[in-house]
Amino acid sequence: MRKFSLVVLLVLALSLLLAACGGGGSEPASDSAGVAPRSGSGNVANGEKLYKQPVIGKSSAPGCNTCHSLDEGVVLVGPSHAGMGTRAATAVSGQSAEDYLRESITNPNAHVTEGYAQGVMYQNYGTDLTEQEINDLVAFLMSLK
Ligand code: HEC
Repeated sequence: MRKFSLVVLLVLALSLLLAACGGGGSEPASDSAGVAPRSGSGNVANGEKLYKQPVIGKSSAPGCNTCHSLDEGVVLVGPSHAGMGTRAATAVSGQSAEDYLRESITNPNAHVTEGYAQGVMYQNYGTDLTEQEINDLVAFLMSLK
């Protein structure tokens, strides 16, 4: 009898393991958002949603569009993000567009955009946001051509 329940337990554990593996297979749905980012790890639609939230992150920091507009030439507090994906590619020579955007979010003072003051952008997104949230924001900004 004891032996039997052990076998049942083993079969149960195995099927749970299989289910867990199967579930993981449907995870990379992030590319289905249309404009696929080159890195493939960020979700454009999630990034756009995050970008437009009034507050984001674990410290309830102001959202991006508090200070950034998506309309060409419209300056709120920071520069407009119209065409940001294109502009990011040539912002810093030797740095990829994605790396530039990631660094602009996590370490805004690394390259202060010409004509704007240092330290005005919220400084703690790098620790407030999850890696996935940052990837999603980068993917969204990359989609702005
Ligand atoms: C409190 C205002 C403020 C908030 C909120 C803010 N920014 Fe900024 N941001 C700025 C300012 C000012 C600059 C220009 C100075 C600099 O580079 O730090 C800037 C610069 C940038 C740049 C570089 C722009 C360029 O033209 O090269 C990016 C990218 C950026 N921000 C992304 C974001 C994202 C993504 C968020 C939301 C997670 C965000 N910002 C939230 C004020 C803000």
